[in-house]
Amino acid sequence: MNAEQMKRAAAEAAIKYVEPGTIIGVGSGSTTNHFIDLLAEHRIAVKAVVAASAASENRLRQHHIPLTDLNSSGDLPLYVDGADEANRFLQLIKGGGGALTREKIVASASKKFICIADASKKVDALGKFPLPVEVIPMARSYVARQLVRLHGNPVLREGYTTDNGNLILDVHNLQINEPINLERQINNIAGVVEVGLFALRPADVLILAGIDGIKTLTAS
Ligand code: A5P
Repeated sequence: MNAEQMKRAAAEAAIKYVEPGTIIGVGSGSTTNHFIDLLAEHRIAVKAVVAASAASENRLRQHHIPLTDLNSSGDLPLYVDGADEANRFLQLIKGGGGALTREKIVASASKKFICIADASKKVDALGKFPLPVEVIPMARSYVARQLVRLHGNPVLREGYTTDNGNLILDVHNLQINEPINLERQINNIAGVVEVGLFALRPADVLILAGIDGIKTLTAS
């Protein structure tokens, strides 16, 4: 199995959590794209989907899957999304695709968060993947200086604007020993819209697809 087949296998394993007739949330990224395609292929009759990015919204629209927004839907029973890194507590780094803020909002508004990924995303400690931070454009330099104080090396994602009209700083070389504390600390910096650390609201189920099949981890 190559990486793409693993992502699809993880997405396939998440399909059984979807109850027809419900409104669900979906994130974004290549693994989530497989999940969206499989929703259509299996003809799962969801009532509607809340998408966490414009790209996912377009893909859902192409499949003629009904869309709604979080203000109309209220809380959701289920959210399905990928991750850039996951630890054994199901805490995540997300935002490699830049959609971290909307992803965190939809995840927070969902009862169950199923994270789907290929097995390479599972790590002992978070932080090897540069931590994305969405910032208000005029605060970019100020926020970067504060991130340096936290011993990170922030790098502006060149030529990229989020769906919310903001910038992304990718923070390299962070040793994330206390994910919950770091999530709070970074989100407390003025000008930060959201950090791509999902520790306060980790996943509830992590589906990992590897060469030896599917592993399902739950929060312990
Ligand atoms: C998008 O902003 C991200 O949070 C994605 O969920 C994450 O980058 C994983 O993407 P892939 O499924 O493409 O690896």
